[in-house]
Amino acid sequence: MWIDTPATRLLKIRYPIVQGPFGGGASSVELASIVSNLGGLGSFGAQHLAPAEIGELVARMRAQTAAPFAINLWVDNADAAMAGFDSATFARHVARLKPVYAALGLEPPAFPNRFGQDFDEQVAALIEAAPPAFSFVFGIPSPAILEACRQRGIVTIGNATTVAEARAIEAAGVDMLVATGAEAGGHRVSFLQAPDSVLMGNFALLPQVRDAVALPVILAGGIADGRGIAAALTLGADAVQIGTAFLACEESGTAALHRAALFSGQATDTVLTRAFTGRLARAIRSGFAEDAESGADGIAPYPAQGWLVRTLRASAIEQGRSDLLPLYAGQSASLLRHHHATGLFGALVAETDEAFRKAALRSRDE
Ligand SMILES: Cc1cc2nc3c(=O)[nH]c(=O)nc-3n(C[C@H](O)[C@H](O)[C@H](O)COP(=O)(O)O)c2cc1C
Repeated sequence: MWIDTPATRLLKIRYPIVQGPFGGGASSVELASIVSNLGGLGSFGAQHLAPAEIGELVARMRAQTAAPFAINLWVDNADAAMAGFDSATFARHVARLKPVYAALGLEPPAFPNRFGQDFDEQVAALIEAAPPAFSFVFGIPSPAILEACRQRGIVTIGNATTVAEARAIEAAGVDMLVATGAEAGGHRVSFLQAPDSVLMGNFALLPQVRDAVALPVILAGGIADGRGIAAALTLGADAVQIGTAFLACEESGTAALHRAALFSGQATDTVLTRAFTGRLARAIRSGFAEDAESGADGIAPYPAQGWLVRTLRASAIEQGRSDLLPLYAGQSASLLRHHHATGLFGALVAETDEAFRKAALRSRDE
């Protein structure tokens, strides 16, 4: 039966279906706990949370589910260029965004104390709270962190965009990995090479990763229905991670404007852009992204760019300006049909059963 795999055994879940974590506030306890309670692995992207909030988050998850779930962090959470990012550089970037602030009726922001969170502080809080699983992107935590996870029984899940990254994750002693193809919504999480130099699609990436490592492999990117799950498992995956289809559900933490865009004709057209955070990510095409990409020296490093764009968020939502929001989406967004996580999860299981039943009939008829 397709549901029993090395990944489901290690994670102690019923179905090999992971709801992908969403950073920046797009995750929700409700969505992640629904998926975990249905027998998948719900995940919460905590990249933007302060250490104290991570402890509270794990307690809130535990109050909603007795089943396993994952908390996700970004290992490398500041670009090297942040070292020289002073108030004068900040002022240049704010000046570039002046027309946008003006259009929204906002005062330009002042130089903040910090642009993002500190990974070491976040991960110390995570280990203390000991969620069932810890998934991470943009690198591999130190041996001491991985050892602390082992001691506290936290299953560790790395993310690879290349065979070399998969090998590095295995060599570090991580428990399992997500292979994530260029189809995926959100950030390209490469850490050994520049992300735009290694845009591998899943049909090429998965079999090579499968051959290179013995770890359980979860496939992410462009999977939105049971056909995709059956194909991923047939190609060698032990589980799938689905992002955009869960993000589109009303239980996710993203804005209603974002969910509406995912179900619109706009969602057929996604681009890779640094416009929203300073790091390459797949989102629905927008004038904001294209203007930022075309302006010389126009995009600040991560996390400063993300901080700047975030200052627009509340007003953009209030004024219906979805063009100013990061509308992250994977390449399969036009396959979306479900608005609720329970219905989506049930359909994913039933469709995968059906896809394997059809494949068995086909091979019997041959
Ligand atoms: C809005 C959004 C935010 C995301 N944030 C994170 C994150 O913080 N950490 C992470 O590991 N993956 C993140 N991802 C990736 C998803 O967890 C998942 O791997 C990806 O969406 C799978 O591709 P799909 O969207 O085509 O299904 C994000 C994806 C989206 C769409």
